[in-house]
Amino acid sequence: MKLKVLDLFSGLGGFSQAFRQRGHHVTTVDIEEKFRPDICRDILDTDELLEKLTVEGGYRPDVILASPPCEEFSKARMPWYKNIHPDMSLFSATLAIVVKLDPRFWVIENVQGAIPFFSQYVGKYKKHCGSRYLWGEFPKFCCTHKKCYGKEKMGPRPDRKELRAIVPYEISINLCLAIEKSPRIEPAMESGDVRRIKMPG
Ligand SMILES: C[S@@+](CC[C@H](N)C(=O)[O-])C[C@H]1O[C@@H](n2cnc3c(N)ncnc32)[C@H](O)[C@@H]1O
Repeated sequence: MKLKVLDLFSGLGGFSQAFRQRGHHVTTVDIEEKFRPDICRDILDTDELLEKLTVEGGYRPDVILASPPCEEFSKARMPWYKNIHPDMSLFSATLAIVVKLDPRFWVIENVQGAIPFFSQYVGKYKKHCGSRYLWGEFPKFCCTHKKCYGKEKMGPRPDRKELRAIVPYEISINLCLAIEKSPRIEPAMESGDVRRIKMPG
């Protein structure tokens, strides 16, 4: 069965790459036209985005993948940046989309510095692959390839930022295979895990 996958903050499409390759129906959303997302929109325009998704296709994804920008959370971990209060609006908008679309699986990816900020709303991260931390509701999967660890070392070039932001393929493929193998309805989802999310603010 083909899955409907919504890739929020899709950038160069690394998070959903394996899902697309394996024939699942991926819808990408990003604010930047240059990434040629299916829907080019600010995720903070949440109502408009939800309307576009649900009205135009009665859309309900099986999987939501979200990798919001991590710069502020990376800074929050550095001892020389004191009293940093990262902007949580993109995280909140992501949660609002998860709650509204109520997918079977959802995964938010970010860096270690996001732990104190995200975990208070969605609980402890479920998986840690090198410098990537994953929160949400998804089946266990294994990811041991060293390519998952740390961000690519790369000299200065105009597209360095987006290239280094790509979620490693090893995470995408192992997550995809685990979701494909997972039973149609997971007990955790039946008990309404998505609705246990505490919204920021
Ligand atoms: C960490 S990168 C995503 C990396 C991507 N998942 C990948 O694997 O290639 C964050 C992305 O969020 C996008 N972004 C930033 N602010 C946004 C907003 N308000 N609405 C939608 N997308 C946004 C950026 O353009 C960037 O592509």
